[in-house]
Amino acid sequence: MTTTADRRVGAAPEPDTLDPEERMGVDELRVLQLERLRWTLRHAYENVPHHRRAFDAAGVHPDDCRELADLARFPTTGKADLRDNYPFGMFAVPQEQVRRVHASSGTTGKPTVVGYTEKDIDTWATVMARSIRAAGGRTGDRLHNAYGYGLFTGGLGAHYGAEKLGCTVIPVSGGMTPRQVQLIADFRPRIIMVTPSYMLTVIDEFEKQGLDPRASSLEIGIFGAEPWTEQMRREVEDRLDIEAVDIYGLSEVMGPGVSQECVETKDGLHVWEDHFYPEVIDPLTGEVLPDGELGELVFTSLTKEAMPVVRYRTRDLTRLLPGTARPGMRRMEKVTGRTDDMIILRGVNLFPTQVEEVVLRTPGLSPHFRLVLTTRGRLDHLAVEVEARPDCPSERRDPAAREVERAVKDTVGTSVEVVVVAPESLPRSVGKLQRISDRRERTGA
Ligand code: DLL
Repeated sequence: MTTTADRRVGAAPEPDTLDPEERMGVDELRVLQLERLRWTLRHAYENVPHHRRAFDAAGVHPDDCRELADLARFPTTGKADLRDNYPFGMFAVPQEQVRRVHASSGTTGKPTVVGYTEKDIDTWATVMARSIRAAGGRTGDRLHNAYGYGLFTGGLGAHYGAEKLGCTVIPVSGGMTPRQVQLIADFRPRIIMVTPSYMLTVIDEFEKQGLDPRASSLEIGIFGAEPWTEQMRREVEDRLDIEAVDIYGLSEVMGPGVSQECVETKDGLHVWEDHFYPEVIDPLTGEVLPDGELGELVFTSLTKEAMPVVRYRTRDLTRLLPGTARPGMRRMEKVTGRTDDMIILRGVNLFPTQVEEVVLRTPGLSPHFRLVLTTRGRLDHLAVEVEARPDCPSERRDPAAREVERAVKDTVGTSVEVVVVAPESLPRSVGKLQRISDRRERTGA
C-alpha cells in the first residue's frame, strides 16, 4: 500500500518493496555472482567464436574460474572487438532468439551493435525499475521520458523499466523543446528522465515561456548518459526544485540501469551486482586494482544471454566503494572522466568536467560551454567558450573569463583561453552533449 510517507521526495523505498537481491549481504551475493560468472564464461566460450579464440590465446578455459578473483586471468573485451565482429558476430544465441537490437553511433566508423533475448529485455526492465525506485520513483508516478527513442538504449531502456515499476510513461523522446515544456505543464509528471545537458535546455525554455520551472510538478530527475558534476546537480536542483540523481549504463553491458544513485544518500551509484560484475583496472597495465583506487571500469555481464560481455573495458574512470543504501552492492563513484574525453594539453590531463566545476561556481556564467581545440604554431590550444547568464551585465563578462582562466590554471595546472559569449549563442544538445570541438590540424604521422 502506498502511504504518504513513501511518496516523500528523497525517501528511501520501503524495504519490502526492494528486490530480494537488493537485500542480499555481500557473502550471499558473491556466491550468486560466482555461479552466474561461471555460466557466462561457458556460454561465451561455447557460442561466440571471438571469445573462444581470445580465451584460447590467453591459455584460459571457463573451468579455470573457481573463484571470482580468477576472472582477472581472462582477456578483456574492447569496443574494437565489437566493431571487428560487426554486426552480429558477438551474439551467443541463434538470430530467432534475438528479440531486439540497439546500436551506439560512435564518433567514427561503424556503430557497435548489441542484442537482447526476451529474457534479457526482462532483466533490463527489472534493473531499470529498480533504478527508478532507488531514485525515489513509485508505482503510479507519471514519468516524462525525454531520453532518445531508437537505436540509442536510453529511451526504450527507461521506458520498459518505468512500465515494469508501474509508472505511467510519457514517451516524449528528445527534441522539440517547446513541446517538452508544454507536456510537463499539462501532464504534470512527477519524474523526468533525460540527459543533464538537455535538462538545462528544457529549463531555459520554461523561463523563455515565462513559466517558473520551480513551480512545475517535477520532483525527481534521473540524469545520465554523459558526465555531470556536483555543481551541475546543485544548478538543476535549485532551478527546478527537484531531487537530481545519477544513472549510469552503457549499451555494450545492457543500457541505462547498470548502476544507480539512491536518492536518500546521493553518494555515488550502486552497481546492480547481481547482473553486472565490476572491476577497476589500471588502464595502462590492465592490472586489477583494489576497491577504492581510481582506474578504468570493466564489466562482465552475469545473466545476459544474447550478448554476454566478458571484462568489457568501458573507458570510464571511477573507483569502487562499499555499499551504503544497499549494503551488499558496491558503489561506483560518479564518473567524471572518460579516457576518450581526456584532453592532453602541454602534458597536463584535463577533463571537461573540471572546467564545468569552475564555470558553475563563477558568478555570471551559465552552464552552457564548449571546449574548442585548435593548433597554434605547433602547440595545442584550448579555448573555453562560455555563455553569460541572461542577467549577467556586459561589464562582468571579461572579469568572469579571467577568473575561470585563473581557476583552471590553479586546479588543473594548465593555461586555457576563456571567452564569454552572449546567452543562447552556443549550440544546444537534445541528447548526449558533445562538449569538445576538435579543430586541430592533423599531422601526417
Ligand atoms: O548512454 C546508456 C544510458 C542511457 C545511460 C540513459 C544513462 C541514461 P551509451 O550510448 O552506450 O549508453 O554510452 C555509454 O556514456 O560508457 C559513459 O561514458 C557515458 N555515461 C553513461 N551514463 C553516464 C553517467 C548510454 N551517469 C557511455 N555519468 C558510458 C557519466 C555516463 N557518464
